[in-house]
Amino acid sequence: MKAWAEQTIVITGAASGLGRALVQHFATLQARVYAVDVDAERLTQSRQESPAPFEPVVCDVTELVAVEQTLASIPADVLVNAAGITGQTNRKSYEVDAADIERVFRVNFFGSYYTSRVLLPGMVARGYGRVLHIASIAGKEGNAGMLAYSASKAAVIGMAKVQGKEMAETGVTVNALAPAVIQTPLVDAMPPEQVRYMTDKIPMKRTGTLAELVATVAFIVSPQTSFTTGFTFDMSGGRATY
Ligand SMILES: NC(=O)c1ccc[n+]([C@@H]2O[C@H](COP(=O)([O-])OP(=O)(O)OC[C@H]3O[C@@H](n4cnc5c(N)ncnc54)[C@H](O)[C@@H]3O)[C@@H](O)[C@H]2O)c1
Repeated sequence: MKAWAEQTIVITGAASGLGRALVQHFATLQARVYAVDVDAERLTQSRQESPAPFEPVVCDVTELVAVEQTLASIPADVLVNAAGITGQTNRKSYEVDAADIERVFRVNFFGSYYTSRVLLPGMVARGYGRVLHIASIAGKEGNAGMLAYSASKAAVIGMAKVQGKEMAETGVTVNALAPAVIQTPLVDAMPPEQVRYMTDKIPMKRTGTLAELVATVAFIVSPQTSFTTGFTFDMSGGRATY
């Protein structure tokens, strides 16, 4: 089994939040990490602050041609799709702009589809791969006022099921992860009442930590996790028990 130091890992949404934490974790373990994000400035800043080196890749994952140009030649062992946006929130489904729904689907669903479309054939040819799409509890439960986000994450969960079955005999696993709220700088900046509103639905009555997120992802994409595919892992402090 390949050690992390021998692995090539592609992570999208790499300049912030979950993606940034994952990049720094795997870079510290001396994996060759390609950190993909559309935000060049934040990616450069993250590179400067990282305790270990990684390869920054500026790419908009909603553009298939750009994804092909930047990622097709990378012999990836692991792909983690963390690029995502919420779009408009706090609106009834009949009030949301249709263009906003399309924009959210383009990042959350098509972005993850394009990167996996480009990297899966190489994984299949090499007989090994781990793909993880970061979905959300919203994709399982449906959050009122968040049609685009919830529906796009449900689509991501559906894609993991399809790709997991398609790849089942190839040595490549494809799974999804459905976190509830994870404590990122974004959540740090929210008023405590807002955070309490979100965590009240969580039986553990708290947010998840980035350390917990990193540990769960590292387990899912490890070579040892080899008999689970097409599955949506939970990370919700007991909110979703299925
Ligand atoms: N933070 C949470 O509590 C939480 C909970 C459940 C699911 N998630 C999911 O985890 C993922 C990461 O969330 P986060 O909180 O770290 O978000 P974040 O906003 O901190 O980071 C997302 C990153 O994606 C990048 N990105 C956006 N559009 C892109 C594009 N078109 N091409 C390339 N990169 C693009 C952004 O520049 C940003 O750096 C998202 O998919 C999110 O839906 C987060």
